[in-house]
Amino acid sequence: MPYYSDEIINEVFLENDIVDYVSQYVRLKKSGRDYSGLCPFHREKTPSFHVSQDKQLFHCFGCGASGNLVQFVMRIESLDFVEALKLLADRAGIFLPENESTYNNAEYEKKQLIYKMNADAARFFYHTLVDSPNSETARQYLRERKIAAKTITSYGLGYAPDSFNALFEHLLKSGYSQEDIIRADLAASKDGRIYDKFRNRIIFPIIDLRGNVIGFGGRIIQNEDDGYKAPKYLNSSDTPVFSKGRNLFSLNFAKREKTNEIILVEGYMDVISVYQAGVRNIAATLGTALTEQQAKLLLKYFGEILICYDSDEAGQAATLRAIDVINSVGGKSRVIKLGGAKDPDEYIKKNGIEMFRQLVRKAVPSTEFKLSLIKNRHDLSATDGKIKFINDAAEALVGIEDAVEVDAYIKKLSDETEIGKDAIYSAYKKKNAKKYRQKTPQRLKIEKRTDKNEQAYFDAGNLNKLAAAERRLLNLAAQHKKLSRLSEESLPFSEFSTDVHKQLAQMIYRAWDAGKEPEPAKMLLNFSGEDLKDASCVFYNMEVYDDDEQTVIDLINHIKREKLQMQINQEKDPSKLKELLQMLTKFGEE
Ligand code: CTP
Ligand code: MN
Repeated sequence: MPYYSDEIINEVFLENDIVDYVSQYVRLKKSGRDYSGLCPFHREKTPSFHVSQDKQLFHCFGCGASGNLVQFVMRIESLDFVEALKLLADRAGIFLPENESTYNNAEYEKKQLIYKMNADAARFFYHTLVDSPNSETARQYLRERKIAAKTITSYGLGYAPDSFNALFEHLLKSGYSQEDIIRADLAASKDGRIYDKFRNRIIFPIIDLRGNVIGFGGRIIQNEDDGYKAPKYLNSSDTPVFSKGRNLFSLNFAKREKTNEIILVEGYMDVISVYQAGVRNIAATLGTALTEQQAKLLLKYFGEILICYDSDEAGQAATLRAIDVINSVGGKSRVIKLGGAKDPDEYIKKNGIEMFRQLVRKAVPSTEFKLSLIKNRHDLSATDGKIKFINDAAEALVGIEDAVEVDAYIKKLSDETEIGKDAIYSAYKKKNAKKYRQKTPQRLKIEKRTDKNEQAYFDAGNLNKLAAAERRLLNLAAQHKKLSRLSEESLPFSEFSTDVHKQLAQMIYRAWDAGKEPEPAKMLLNFSGEDLKDASCVFYNMEVYDDDEQTVIDLINHIKREKLQMQINQEKDPSKLKELLQMLTKFGEE
């Protein structure tokens, strides 16, 4: 089997969504956190086939078929691993380099051509900026904006000359066809003539995570005060290699930083000027609102997104939208508030980078930011205003998972309005319950399992109590670092009872150690056949516990007791038996 780098596999997973793909074969309906439908792998009348978008896994409670997207494709299309990966890569326009010789795909060839053309165009813009005698205005402009020569080189900034078709002619001479140049959105035809897309603009190449130039942004060379005679920025339209909603400016640099946080700003100039000053964990969207794909991409590399948008009204509105987008994909965010400057670039010009670093450290939790904006919208001196404020504020608290956090905000709201905590709490609870009903109709408890399929799978005769407890424990360990640590302290991976569980425990513990969240879909790549079913079951536990931490402690005790019991059953030596029985009493009765 050819070897594929983690990066490629990552990308295949990132660019394909399991719900999307499976929907081609199964009519999926939202059910709780998951989707369910009739299993495509066995005949059934009631749906026991589940797909989890969070985990990017599928699992059939009826026949046990389970796995990640690649494994779904392998099964449904009868392909081997490489073929399935290839199919998914093709679907997302990703090239699998190891297969170059056998790979012959027109789509792929086209993309490679555009990458190459973009790189040539970027070189052309760069040399025009740096070398051409006609570029003095552009160079002057960048000097005024305090962009150093070194920064120009590292970002590959350029200048598109003030000419109708200088780039077009250059690219034609280099052998590209008119059709391809237009397809790359570097030129367009109008009234029978071909015009360069970017004319008389500073050029910002946009580079993807593998270092390909995928598109460009171009800024007019004019100051705000002079008024703009054309749009301030022009960006490449979406092309076969470029999608505004799926890429970010400077993430190729930021991803090298070993920070937990990424700073998200609005403008190219903000990124460049902050980066130049030494803060490099920064990226920007490409002239549109933050999308879910962008948020997910950022959260692949960073634990938290610090939003640092412009301080004007539009920036605030965009911040609220970004918070919601990040929440919706399960990410954490905070907000950096710029005082006395319109954007990060202006802020550091005025106050210096050290002050900016301080602002970053003082980033406020998104909820706090939301609440302060909501507060400004209402007149708290009037009773009516207070009531509306509390209502909106309670809405903003919905969805926060940490009860202590909710409580702290409610206390603060109560202090601010002199409305009792209990009243605010019940307003919040009502809204929360409503939201919850919409989202997760069946919140399961361990004692009251309503899903027959699932019950069957835990109680099945072939699964002993020990293995069932280990499944539950591994499931929890994969969800939270704290729970994993608890588990690891008492149960090193080697002490799990089956090879599959040992392997999973090791991967989960290791992931957290490396500061990463374990990814079920990827872990499952290590298994096949019966082992795959087994491993997948670990992630398909849909039980909800009142207290996860206590559950982990209980499970660990349970596992230790089960193991002891098994030893006792096999022990022949009376004195050792006595010892074991004594140990057993320490755990108490079940
Ligand atoms: N933008 C755009 N089209 C416009 C204006 C803005 O695509 N007509 C996008 C660009 O990606 C730009 C970002 O929105 O970088 C932020 O806009 P703005 O704050 O106006 O620009 P800055 O990047 O701050 O640039 P400058 O400092 O040169 O004004
Ligand atoms: Mn700006």
